[in-house]
Amino acid sequence: MFIGLDLGTSGLKGVLMTEGQQVLAEATAPLTVQRPAEGWSEQSPADWIAAAEAVLDGLAAHGLGAVRGIGLSGQMHGATLLDKADEVLRPCILWNDTRSHQEAAELDADPMFRRVSGNIVFPGFTAPKVMWVARHEPALRARLARVLLPKDYLRLWLTGEHVAEMSDAAGTSWLDTGARDWSDDLLAATGLSRANMPRLVEGSQVSGALRPALAARWGLPKGVVVAGGGGDNAASGVGVGVVRAGEAFVSLGTSGVLFAANDGYQPDPATAVHTFCHALPGTWHQMGVILAATDALNWYARLVGAEASALTGELGALKAPGHTVFLPYLGGERTPLNSASVRGAFAGLEHATDRAAATRAVLEGVTFAIRDCRDALAATGTTIGSLLAVGGGSRSDYWLKLIATALGVPVSLPVAGDFGGAFGAARLALMAATGAGAEIATLPKIARVVEPDASLMAAFDAGHARFRAAQTALKDLT
Ligand code: XUL
Repeated sequence: MFIGLDLGTSGLKGVLMTEGQQVLAEATAPLTVQRPAEGWSEQSPADWIAAAEAVLDGLAAHGLGAVRGIGLSGQMHGATLLDKADEVLRPCILWNDTRSHQEAAELDADPMFRRVSGNIVFPGFTAPKVMWVARHEPALRARLARVLLPKDYLRLWLTGEHVAEMSDAAGTSWLDTGARDWSDDLLAATGLSRANMPRLVEGSQVSGALRPALAARWGLPKGVVVAGGGGDNAASGVGVGVVRAGEAFVSLGTSGVLFAANDGYQPDPATAVHTFCHALPGTWHQMGVILAATDALNWYARLVGAEASALTGELGALKAPGHTVFLPYLGGERTPLNSASVRGAFAGLEHATDRAAATRAVLEGVTFAIRDCRDALAATGTTIGSLLAVGGGSRSDYWLKLIATALGVPVSLPVAGDFGGAFGAARLALMAATGAGAEIATLPKIARVVEPDASLMAAFDAGHARFRAAQTALKDLT
């Protein structure tokens, strides 16, 4: 058996999977985000460990004596800063934190960063965060010995080792993404060296062994391997079999991601598309990333005092967009805008805008932002003919029909609902423990395929044009 752990932003999820890839048990533990200042987004690494302990307690109720491997998936880009005794120096600065926009722009102005890393230096990426700490918290920077990504801090707890893997490392701005190795030049440009970085493995390789004390605590056998794993999007890709060129998924999680697997390394930073290593050796992927997908819906649900599922549940059949336009830029945006300062908006409100119309506008706004990602991917030559849907938002039928119609592609919903990063991480554990490869990362059984509503596609083209007009009109209103 294998365990997959996915350290998400809103919770940590674990699955227990058999050698035949049946999920026997699931457990989750919630996590909250602290926002001590505008544009900031932090979590305490101690909370991740507490969540992992709760999840392992939950899985252990099903018996872990036959487990051979553990795989890790996690929210990307967070800067977990450790001193030389591996003590955490400050709360982790997360992927959707934009405080380091100035430092990001400064690094991005050096063409070496885009050339070597294959990506814009976004404020959410790891390197500019360390530059922000150097500028604003110099006493902490002086004590900095090691930088780990969130799931790799979990790995340090599990194995005692400092290890990262390629897919998550590609989101730091320190990786030579084509060569799959740390870049000494990029590290030096931020005052760091390899000595500050974890060792690198591929996602499907062994990164270390589970510490005996933890194995004893939850009844696992000796010699359980911990696989490299993947950033949550790459791990989700492995989980839904999106590992070959031509395959793609949309993830409706806290962030929104349009993810396409590629044959080779095809960077095109100017489009604000992300080009990262995939979690399997010799493979890469591209993605457009929006910072608030279910995060925008949940914000709106809190505002109107309702559950998000109740709001989407009352919508009925898909309707053409109305007058109300929603821009989901609650905390800035990555693809395609690359702006930390842009903010969200409702435009075109009218007397007839009731709760359902506003809910539809929120879902449409997130969907149009994902359509912008589709257009950005197309500008790099990556076209998407169909999509799998993953993440919490894919539980809304209305949203699935909306995405299919607004993007003009069929959207397939896997049978098991939310496969997510935890299942992909369990698959990577199976690969690391048994030597299996990409052949086990098969496409999931499909519960149903949601086709575009052809009668509404023109209305959604017009709706997207209105969304773009609002985006242009409001982009300087910060
Ligand atoms: C990807 C990104 C997000 C996080 C969310 O670049 O920042 O999708 O990984 O967990």
